[in-house]
Amino acid sequence: MAAVQIIVGSVSGTALEVAEAVADTLTAHGHQVRINARFQKGDLQDAQEVLLICTSNTGMGDLPMNIVPFYEHLKNDYPALAGRRYGVINLGDSSFPNFAQAGKTLDEAVADLGAVRIGEPLVIDSIFTNDPASDASDWANEWSTLL
Ligand SMILES: Cc1cc2nc3c(=O)[nH]c(=O)nc-3n(C[C@H](O)[C@H](O)[C@H](O)COP(=O)(O)O)c2cc1C
Repeated sequence: MAAVQIIVGSVSGTALEVAEAVADTLTAHGHQVRINARFQKGDLQDAQEVLLICTSNTGMGDLPMNIVPFYEHLKNDYPALAGRRYGVINLGDSSFPNFAQAGKTLDEAVADLGAVRIGEPLVIDSIFTNDPASDASDWANEWSTLL
């Protein structure tokens, strides 16, 4: 069983709802989960903890404000993430030209520090789903088995 920190970026709450659904699913599989929607330096200290980035997109493929401190920490402070396991849930809307760019930006930033992604990112396109939390729970049932 794993400890998982879900780092959330959300503007209007959908990604947070998704994170809560995923937390419930992972907990039901016996994992220990905490949701972090207000990232601060120091929140990556448990080297055994798996990171799950769960972000929406805003602007032109930009990061939601509440996950910018996480990105800035990665880019400015180079935290020790070599070998750290992580996953990505990326909520976007394919009618925007910069579809799902925010999740890709964060995925690259953690990979650049040597972290190792578990499984493929889940990309949730709001055009094609009415129930992102349910989609994410289905994905988490599979992802859980990789931890
Ligand atoms: C003002 C605005 C800008 C957006 N820009 C993008 C974008 O550039 N790329 C994208 O894939 N989705 C974009 N989206 C779609 C959102 O990321 C998507 O609706 C997401 O589910 C919102 O989740 P949230 O409530 O957690 O912020 C945008 C949505 C809004 C309202």
